[in-house]
Amino acid sequence: MRVKGMSSMETAGKGRSRRSTLAVPGSSTKMLDKAKGLGADSLFMDLEDAVAPVAKADARKNIIAALNEGGYGEKICSVRVNDWATPWAIDDVTTVIEGAGSTLDCIMLPKVQTAEQIVALDALITGLEQSLGLPVGRIGIEAQIETALGLTHVNAISAASPRLETVIFGPADFMASINMRTLVVGEQPQGYDVGDAYHFILMSILIAARAYDRLAIDGPYLAIKDLEGFRRVAGRSAALGFDGKWVLHPDQIEAANEVFAPRQADYDHAELILDAYDYYTSVDGGARGAVMLGSEMIDEASRKMALVISAKGRAAGLIRTSAFEIPTT
Ligand code: GLV
Ligand code: MG
Repeated sequence: MRVKGMSSMETAGKGRSRRSTLAVPGSSTKMLDKAKGLGADSLFMDLEDAVAPVAKADARKNIIAALNEGGYGEKICSVRVNDWATPWAIDDVTTVIEGAGSTLDCIMLPKVQTAEQIVALDALITGLEQSLGLPVGRIGIEAQIETALGLTHVNAISAASPRLETVIFGPADFMASINMRTLVVGEQPQGYDVGDAYHFILMSILIAARAYDRLAIDGPYLAIKDLEGFRRVAGRSAALGFDGKWVLHPDQIEAANEVFAPRQADYDHAELILDAYDYYTSVDGGARGAVMLGSEMIDEASRKMALVISAKGRAAGLIRTSAFEIPTT
């Protein structure tokens, strides 16, 4: 929902790389501090499931202090509040925006069930920004899809607010919500041997996110010592087109940053296609729409695919290692 008076300002994290999103419990000042030196693209300071009910009030204070102290560099800093069904949601949002509204980048809403829940969060943030004199529209929203009802509404949820930056799969809660018969988060349920049990969920989230220009983010892999398992599962969502994955431990950060960045050769090739297509479609290059680049035919659709890889590579800081040369004959 674009609330009256909202400017067309981009939200804080829009356009930034989110290959890895580090989960940091708001109840741990030690972890809030340690996160500053880690190489994750983004992080969320948690007020929800990683924080016990009795520790939530102190966690709000820790998060506000950490955000105001700063030191997180280029990382996108989100705060995960409790969901609308709890007694904490409104106070979480109000307290953290009143305390650190100019430094936090996004509010992450878990267990999103309907588009109206995003519209309500947007309205609450807008009211707070207005009353606190903050720029209206800068704070982004991240939506976790982690219930059966949420997935049935994922298209409307993805369209619900211009603040929405990411649509995130929450596998642990989702598996509980649909009674999937396993306790191993992210891995295939034993007994299901005919495909990927998560394919429909991942594709539904990805397509909704792409339809409304949001990032699609895969959730956590709980076996933190199994880096090979993490890479395997991350590699699947990366191959589909997801933009990044949650990380729960420093060891998973490097793996996520690597898996979700384009390979150097793909990045170089994408940049080559863009330059070549630019040249061949120009008058100097013959004003052609479909041309051969080496042994491959490229056209407007190739350009669109190349743009995606190029944008991801640039956001991940890749430097191209080859250049397009204008043919001399
Ligand atoms: C994350 O919140 C999950 O439920 O997997
Ligand atoms: Mg969850």
